[in-house]
Amino acid sequence: MITPSSDPIDLATLLDLDDVEAAAATRLEPMALGYYAGGAGEERTLRRNREAWGELDLWHRALVDVADRSTAAHVLGLDLPIPVFVAPTALHRLAHPDGELATARACSTTGVPMVVSSLASTLLEDVCAATDAPVLLQLYIGLHREVAVALVQRAEAAGCAGIQLTVDTPVWGERHRERRSGFHLPEGVDVVNLRRHAPGSDATGPVTGGIGEILGWTVSPSVTWDDLAWLCGTTSLPVLTKGLCRADDARRAIGCGAAGVVVSNHGGRQLDGAPATARSIGPVALAAREADEHATVLVDGGVRTGADVLRALAMGADAVQLGRPILWGLAVGGQAGVARVLELVADDLDRAMALAGCVSVDDITVDLLGSG
Ligand SMILES: Cc1cc2nc3c(=O)[nH]c(=O)nc-3n(C[C@H](O)[C@H](O)[C@H](O)COP(=O)(O)O)c2cc1C
Repeated sequence: MITPSSDPIDLATLLDLDDVEAAAATRLEPMALGYYAGGAGEERTLRRNREAWGELDLWHRALVDVADRSTAAHVLGLDLPIPVFVAPTALHRLAHPDGELATARACSTTGVPMVVSSLASTLLEDVCAATDAPVLLQLYIGLHREVAVALVQRAEAAGCAGIQLTVDTPVWGERHRERRSGFHLPEGVDVVNLRRHAPGSDATGPVTGGIGEILGWTVSPSVTWDDLAWLCGTTSLPVLTKGLCRADDARRAIGCGAAGVVVSNHGGRQLDGAPATARSIGPVALAAREADEHATVLVDGGVRTGADVLRALAMGADAVQLGRPILWGLAVGGQAGVARVLELVADDLDRAMALAGCVSVDDITVDLLGSG
């Protein structure tokens, strides 16, 4: 059994997200590390997500006056300092005792929106109260529709800015690392938002059912486009459909009333063999905008550098989402660790924009990928 180190980490010595990941690996219990890092099956999609961004060459514009430039972006009606969202990831309290509250506070200081997972280990209302940054709720439609309704109502009451409906989970992916480590929730860490709505439970009542039982009804193999249309009709919040890779699915999502899409393969944790998101973002962005010129298009999966953000925007995304890097930041330094991750990405994007000859995110166009 490897015992995680507790020596303090000087965050200033972490110069990129790989440094943060390597430091986090020395801090996390092996079971949590495997849960966060792992992907489905042979982990091909997990690996390809990261590699595929690097395969897109950036054809910089020379001799542009970039002295006065800005990374600011306007996405989903929100004014953002950088075109970056915190992706929904489960169970932040496996990484740090302050869990999602630490993430929310780091978002508050940086202005980056946070998407809270349905499988968060902190109540949605407490996360919203801890931050001035926009918060979105990630939702699953599972076996009990009333759970989705209750969560959406809670998101509306808590002032959330939108919903991301995850659609790549008809069943859970097979993640060998979790099975091999016998993944289970440690004492004191729980999926508190879902627990509240577990059949037979009430908010204050005794805990019933293990995590396996809850995960069993959190998703459903029978969810279809009709459910998306139903959800869009039940809430005034914008709904983004998370987990698409196909242009026809993007058109269909917009047709059902979605405000946009999140091109994602769940960080390689669902269908192993799904295309790297660097490859699917282009056609999906095009189709979504053809269906609705105002459609919001986000992408996640393997985005680790400012140049990756540049590539994603050049391919047609409005913004990217960061998944695992946020968890690594949490593990190395709680709120300050997450803030360090966001600061590294912001600085790197600013530099990449200058080097590519871009003074604003509107200048980040497809010709930077050599197709102009
Ligand atoms: C540990 C972990 C937990 C996740 N939990 C959720 C979740 O609860 N809901 C969801 O829609 N996506 C979830 N995701 C997927 C992320 O939202 C996102 O799509 C993915 O992490 C992006 O890839 P990246 O980690 O390479 O940045 C999770 C990902 C990880 C790594």
